[in-house]
Amino acid sequence: MLKLPENFIFGGATAAYQAEGAVDKDGKGRVAWDTFLEENYWYSAEPASDFYNRYPVDLKLAEEFGVNGIRISIAWSRIFPKGHGKVNKKGVEFYHNVIDEAHKRGVEPFITLHHFDTPEALHKNGDFLNRQNIEYFVEYAKFCFEEYGDKVNYWTTFNEIGPIGDGQYLAGKFPPGIKYDFSKVFQSHHNMMLAHAKTVKLFKQNNYPGEIGVVHALQTKYPYDKENPADVRAAELEDIIQNKFILDATYNGSYSQRTMDGVNHIFEANGGSLDLRDEDMKILNEAKDLNDFLGINHYMSDWMRAYDGETEIFHNSTGDEGTSAYRIKGVGEKVFDVDVPRTDWDWMIYPQGLYDQLIRVKEEYPNYKKIYITENGLGYKDEIKDGKVDDQPRIDYIKDYLTAVHKAIQDGVNVQGYFVWSLMDVFSWSNGYNKRYGLFYVDFDTQERTPKKSAYWYKELAESKEIK
Ligand code: BG6
Repeated sequence: MLKLPENFIFGGATAAYQAEGAVDKDGKGRVAWDTFLEENYWYSAEPASDFYNRYPVDLKLAEEFGVNGIRISIAWSRIFPKGHGKVNKKGVEFYHNVIDEAHKRGVEPFITLHHFDTPEALHKNGDFLNRQNIEYFVEYAKFCFEEYGDKVNYWTTFNEIGPIGDGQYLAGKFPPGIKYDFSKVFQSHHNMMLAHAKTVKLFKQNNYPGEIGVVHALQTKYPYDKENPADVRAAELEDIIQNKFILDATYNGSYSQRTMDGVNHIFEANGGSLDLRDEDMKILNEAKDLNDFLGINHYMSDWMRAYDGETEIFHNSTGDEGTSAYRIKGVGEKVFDVDVPRTDWDWMIYPQGLYDQLIRVKEEYPNYKKIYITENGLGYKDEIKDGKVDDQPRIDYIKDYLTAVHKAIQDGVNVQGYFVWSLMDVFSWSNGYNKRYGLFYVDFDTQERTPKKSAYWYKELAESKEIK
């Protein structure tokens, strides 16, 4: 019998922009995504899952189904419509209400300050490539610590610094939609890590109550042919882009020689440079031991083969399996034709990858303190039939990944909780509404919620703590 620890969090994750809707209600400022979706996609974030109005319903469901933690993010532009300056009282009040309701339901709120949704006014000025925006972020964080500090135990600065830089400047699937610009990718990673470090320092210096950490997306990279040194190098370089650069910044407070060799190699092949200043390194170094926890979002593993042709990335946004392409000059290409199941969106399902990643954090970054799996779940084209949703593949997915987490705990990794992505169906940034992840099915026309088969399974899991 596999049993998870007594005080383990069995959570559900959401994000403001993907759940709330109400994108222009009650004084909320625009975010870059509003415009980007209008110009590039066939869907919008309105009304999403209408969490803005229905949070009491979702939190009640969470309580009923044993979900004892919820990740929510604060929409920066609900608090500061222009990113800084004038405060929007109605936005401030909304998050008081949500947090209070969560506590009333016995659901611990884990609050993220930034989940992909920089206010448009700051985004137009370069987003985190503009160092001034680092200061605005710290001011916004300070405001939140002072406003909500007495009722929040867990703060996260950023959700997924890696995929933000990659989505914005490599794949071009996030605003501003720039492709293959490695200067911007690494500068964004670095500047956001600086913003994180400054915020964590402030949090500790001012003795705000609670804990603070950051959420990184860590997908595990394997060589396609582990006997071939060129494939091994391809996996290492891809790991540097997505994982190691930001992990080094978080826990070493510096970039290792090996990391910088990889970054320079990528710049040589693709062009690019990085502005790293002495004072930056001092700040990263001062914050490296202050993180109370690391959140890990993990969905897949990738197999990499050496590649020297032109860079080409194609994002499968439709769920037509086999339509993805990811090849970076001088780095490598993802091979999808390996003997591992994958989702309709070409995400390779490999629970061992989560185990390996957890062991990697423990061994390479021994000052990590503790970990929450802050996102993991299966994107699936759920269908509702006779008022029921049979999502057995999602149950299997969660069960297998939790089994990997259990094994990592046995092997000495300090993991304290798991948040399924997502609590209820929400909208997916570059995929729209048919890539569903929720425990609760959302009819996006009526906003009615229906617990899926996985919700009943999760309830049993949360009650017994046994993975069955
Ligand atoms: C993570 C994000 O990258 O993965 C979520 O934190 C996101 O916001 C989730 O929705 C799943 O990704 P996608 O692209 O399938 O929605």
